Amino acid sequence: MAIPSFDLKRNYARVEDEIKEAIDRVLASQHFIMGPDVAAFEGEAAAYLETPYAVGCASGSDALILALMASGVGPGDEVITSPFSFFATVSCITRLGARPVFADVEPDTYNMAVESVASALTPKTKAVIPVHLFGQLCRLEEITGALEEKNIALVEDCAQAFGAHRVHDGRIIRGGAWGGFGCFSFFPTKNLGAYGDAGMVTCFKESDAKELSRLRVHGATETYLHDEVGLNSRLDSIQAAILRVRLRKIETWTEERREAARRYGLLFAERSLEDEIQTPVETPGNRHTYHQYVVKAKRRDELQKFLAERGVVTRVYYPLPLHLQPCFASAGYKPGAFPVAEALSGQVLALPMFPELLPEEQETVVSAIAEFYKR
Ligand SMILES: Cc1ncc(COP(=O)(O)O)c(C=O)c1O
Repeated sequence: MAIPSFDLKRNYARVEDEIKEAIDRVLASQHFIMGPDVAAFEGEAAAYLETPYAVGCASGSDALILALMASGVGPGDEVITSPFSFFATVSCITRLGARPVFADVEPDTYNMAVESVASALTPKTKAVIPVHLFGQLCRLEEITGALEEKNIALVEDCAQAFGAHRVHDGRIIRGGAWGGFGCFSFFPTKNLGAYGDAGMVTCFKESDAKELSRLRVHGATETYLHDEVGLNSRLDSIQAAILRVRLRKIETWTEERREAARRYGLLFAERSLEDEIQTPVETPGNRHTYHQYVVKAKRRDELQKFLAERGVVTRVYYPLPLHLQPCFASAGYKPGAFPVAEALSGQVLALPMFPELLPEEQETVVSAIAEFYKR
């Protein structure tokens, strides 16, 4: 039997009745645009993340654009980010006419290395976008240290890290709650997924929340009055109602992912595959939420093909680092500029991971990997 990389149907079966009830409520109200569920979800998400403000929007990609706009990023500015991420992490920068400046990642966590961020800072740096890749937070306390005094905006890309946290000074701080902006995607396959596109920005200042709220409705200060040009990027009321149901389950689902990750770790250890497979590293103080369970594999492409023939679906995030994407050529980076990110793109493999993944399915995945390496 095939083992998918994720299975939304199994998850839906667990919440179907509540979801239908929530959708019916919005349908009965016919309040589709900025209905009461939007504000309710924003309040509940802000409470969960422990941020003063949360502003819903249409996608994670828009969340990044809105946060950069609210930070005043524009032509002539530089924004530092990771070359090993999803496309939208960088397109938000170039869409605003700013220049992406990349900082290489750590080989074990795949997150931006603190030292490479520090060496990428220039007087033109207007913002830094740490990407919490695959569900684990960057070393934010070290990255943010230099930013505040230089008046550089912190825009966390939390698209893959809803509910991830890091302990700092004995305090638990979730992704999106580190004092700048937190940008979330609720794309259906994300840990907190909607049933369509949806996103959100968290922030700490009331003035930023007001600016984001204006920018998502064409920059309007009141109906038909525009001091600036924004986007049409509202969080849909039906998606907000769905997200409210799903937010109530997120802790259970996150713990199920973490349990599945622990089980993969044990299964790999039992087979003594450490020479061929490097399992994900959860660094001290981090709560990894395993949006993806990404291993580094020897002979990755051959392994992926072998697994596919046995019905095990795996994915490669990401096969081409962003500094080498043709559309970002004008940023001026050549192959070899970011050796860690470039090496990772030939090694990483995301194994099946979702809350409902069965222990016997994990056993099948790891057995097939062991068979490939003849272990
Ligand atoms: C790291 C990262 N940033 C940004 C995004 C963009 O989110 P969305 O697909 O909701 O626009 C995604 C989602 O795919 C992502 O994984």
